[in-house]
Amino acid sequence: MRVIECPSQDQAADLVATEILEALHHKPGLVLGLATGSTPIGVYERLVRARREGRADFSRVRTFNLDEYIGLPADHPQSYRRFMREHLFDGVGIPAHHVHFPPTEGKDLLSACRAYEQAIRAAGGIDIQILGIGSNGHIGFNEPTSSLASRTRVKTLTDKTLADNARFYAPGEQQPQLATTMGVGTILEARRILLQSFGSKKAEAVRQAVEGPVSSFWPASALQLHPDVVFYLDGDSASSLTMREYYRRVRRNELELGSH
Ligand code: F6R
Repeated sequence: MRVIECPSQDQAADLVATEILEALHHKPGLVLGLATGSTPIGVYERLVRARREGRADFSRVRTFNLDEYIGLPADHPQSYRRFMREHLFDGVGIPAHHVHFPPTEGKDLLSACRAYEQAIRAAGGIDIQILGIGSNGHIGFNEPTSSLASRTRVKTLTDKTLADNARFYAPGEQQPQLATTMGVGTILEARRILLQSFGSKKAEAVRQAVEGPVSSFWPASALQLHPDVVFYLDGDSASSLTMREYYRRVRRNELELGSH
């Protein structure tokens, strides 16, 4: 697990976007696992800019999003399908049939969730998974006590997640209580995982994920079991890490050795 404390959110977004663009250069048919929310917006802006400036071609990229709310139509302002269209897909020109979201409609969601897993496998697996983290340690919508071996399925959102996301809904507007999400086990199968976290509200979740015991109570702690995970943090999100100085020293050595 690598921990990179960045001087700013912009610098974290630069680093993550650079990783993706380099991977895309080597593999034009890159398979990306994508997150929504405020955290990855800077990365998506940089990918859109790279496409606009002719530095990147996304026409062969395939994408699988982590999660989607149940009960919101695709064009609802808070739906993740709409978020992705506005922040990334329209700007980089990924063909619509290369874009995948976990199923949220239909009578047999269980089979549809299995088909989503199968579609990921058929694409050759996820090369790079982008993640944010919830203040309760969730990744995707794998809320605390999610099985660390879980697969794509429907989850009930916790009060903490509902409260964190209430800011996106008008007073009195119905907020979805359920979502379909890739499981922790699904996420752990990605070849590389790049997690960003910004702000002091996430500091405890980051500490538990990086330094706590592996526990379903902090689902992001399962990332300790993955061989290629990088945490890109701002100073606020890094503020509770007990080995903060050590991570800084490791980073300085990496830069000096040119190993990353
Ligand atoms: C969204 C997702 C969530 C978010 C997390 C942080 O697709 O998977 O786990 O990454 O809730 O959200 P923000 O970035 O809004 O703080």
